[in-house]
Amino acid sequence: MQSKFSRTLVTAALPYANGPIHLGHLAGAYLPADIYVRYLRLKGEDVIFICGSDEHGVPITITADKEGVTPQQIVDRYHKMNKESFEKFGMSFDNYSRTSLPVHHQTGQEFFLEFYRQKLLLEKSEKQLFCEKDRMFLADRYVEGTCPVCGNLDARGDQCEKCGTWLEQTQLIDPKCKICGSTPVVKETKHWYFPLGRFQAELEKFVDSKKWKDNVRSYVDSWLKEGLADRAVTRDLHWGIPVPLQGYENKVLYVWFEAVLGYISSTKELSQKRGDPNLWKRYWQSDGASDGETRYIAFIGKDNIVFHTLIFPAMLMAWNQGGKSRYILPDAVPANEFLNFEGKKFSKSRGWGIDLKDFIEVFPSDTLRYALALNLPESRDSDFYWKDFQARVNNELADTLGNFINRTLQFTQRYYDGKVPERGTLSQLDRWVIGEMENAPKKVGELFEAFKFRDGVVEAMSLARAANKYFNDSEPWKTRKDNPVQCATTINICAQLTRSLAVLLSPVIPYAAETIWKMLRLDGTAAATRWESAGEMKVEAASAIGHLDILFTKIEDSTIEEQIKKTASGEAPAQQPSAPATAPIKSEITIDDFRKVDLRVARVVNCEKVPKSEKLLRIEVQIGDQKRQIVAGISKHYKPEDLVGKNVIVVANLAPAKLMGLESNGMLLAASSEDGKLSVLTTVADIDSGSIVR
Ligand code: 2FM
Ligand code: ZN
Repeated sequence: MQSKFSRTLVTAALPYANGPIHLGHLAGAYLPADIYVRYLRLKGEDVIFICGSDEHGVPITITADKEGVTPQQIVDRYHKMNKESFEKFGMSFDNYSRTSLPVHHQTGQEFFLEFYRQKLLLEKSEKQLFCEKDRMFLADRYVEGTCPVCGNLDARGDQCEKCGTWLEQTQLIDPKCKICGSTPVVKETKHWYFPLGRFQAELEKFVDSKKWKDNVRSYVDSWLKEGLADRAVTRDLHWGIPVPLQGYENKVLYVWFEAVLGYISSTKELSQKRGDPNLWKRYWQSDGASDGETRYIAFIGKDNIVFHTLIFPAMLMAWNQGGKSRYILPDAVPANEFLNFEGKKFSKSRGWGIDLKDFIEVFPSDTLRYALALNLPESRDSDFYWKDFQARVNNELADTLGNFINRTLQFTQRYYDGKVPERGTLSQLDRWVIGEMENAPKKVGELFEAFKFRDGVVEAMSLARAANKYFNDSEPWKTRKDNPVQCATTINICAQLTRSLAVLLSPVIPYAAETIWKMLRLDGTAAATRWESAGEMKVEAASAIGHLDILFTKIEDSTIEEQIKKTASGEAPAQQPSAPATAPIKSEITIDDFRKVDLRVARVVNCEKVPKSEKLLRIEVQIGDQKRQIVAGISKHYKPEDLVGKNVIVVANLAPAKLMGLESNGMLLAASSEDGKLSVLTTVADIDSGSIVR
């Protein structure tokens, strides 16, 4: 961590209180934010973690209308639901606020009035549809009519979903008010605009001064390249923060103008709760002399990037030029891409996906946190698959981590009367695993600090793998009889590794970490421990361990099948036409996994169709000094003569298989696309057969 910062402010996007949190939200912003904050706390950093519900805007009023309830009832329902699910999931927010609170309304109005005072805001007149029966201007989503381009009868006020044309609501033919069905009239309305373009140069400088993730930076660059336009900051709506100006009584602040300020008002609420009125200023403002004292990290999903990298910073710049006080700007905006569900986009209406609330009713939060952490869409979209979740829980949490800890503690219980035995002289193997443990906090920490949470968790789990290997290779069940000092040393070191794993993994699986802590009967909590101490041997010899608990239970196939039926058997939502379906990327492997595959250049010396087979070719290849026969199902795509003389790539160490009675010794690599095309991999330049492909 860079030392010029003495505090860290972390915010996570305010979830829209119009529906439940699902796994996509967690993977986009919330889980990485929580891992990061938990890690910083372990490092002893001064950090606050801010979030809350975003409770205004048109979609909420539409849900309320549909259900025949008030918008307040909608936001009350989802605020409560999401707050509770977040708590169960282990989100460690310092404050979870709501934008409907007075402190937020005041903050929103204060910013608006400051920009008005500076004469920054531009007033523009425009024509909008007005329903005389409901006595209101109609937001785009409150109007429908006939599309002037394709004739679709159900076009929305802002877009025709059939032909994709973006529309002005006044372009609709035969428009109707969606609330009462009557025909609205065109009326002049006035709105205030924020001149975002005026901040373009300052924003470019700001963005250039930061090292942002590539996926974030490329969005930002494309916005900047297009040029920033004025943005409306008021709306004709009854639900939201009233515009504090005469003549604007029936208008509210645009939800995106005020929602980002919700981070500030949530921190103000925290100040009130803690009886420390200046707390929020310490985190949000700098006194000019000590600019940069607080580091501000804003975790969001990819659909929020422009608001957090350009619009919100421009609003803060605008405030700062007023000379009243100075807000700090985001130092990093580590936005993730999207998480899909079983290969398709989440879609509530089509019954595709699962909400957090339902998930944690069936599976422990830690299992979800762990599986998602290893599958975060950090640089590109990723997928949640039930089978993958099951494999992660069973093979990694239960078999690797749980099993190691269980074996260690059981052994202590059974053969050392529940007391950690003393270490003797260290063997080479002992020193190896201690070295792994000593290096782990730095390695994992550096990855977390670089927002590479997936890699950080992989690194932490590699210590669990090393620990298992150490237990196996040390064979304490044998040394117990023939070398008791070595056996005691092994078990002592395993207890140290157990403690170390609890600390290193506590940002990811906080509940299990505390269970481990209790089983070791250590003082305090895993969460309140020093991160660096995960590399130290802190478990005292002769200390007694506590009652043993099962850390992770394996998930049965039938349980997973049931979930697949419930959550991924709805009508799968269609993919957007612009994004052709790509087969999902398999779960991550290590470089060591990859090295197991021996890929070689092979020269095709002979090739023929396998009689009576439509698909198979029998191929003779030369791999260095070896001759091999490979049978491949590519006869529909290649004639034998196409391949003879070519250098192809083969898996040289694949176990032999028999196809139509012919032995195949290796596998030829080919790319195949979703629409059935196939292309055999060859080398571009000529190279000796037998060459290694790496
Ligand atoms: O995308 C969303 O769900 C928004 N409610 C996020 C708002 S983040 C911030 F501006 F409050
Ligand atoms: Zn109407």
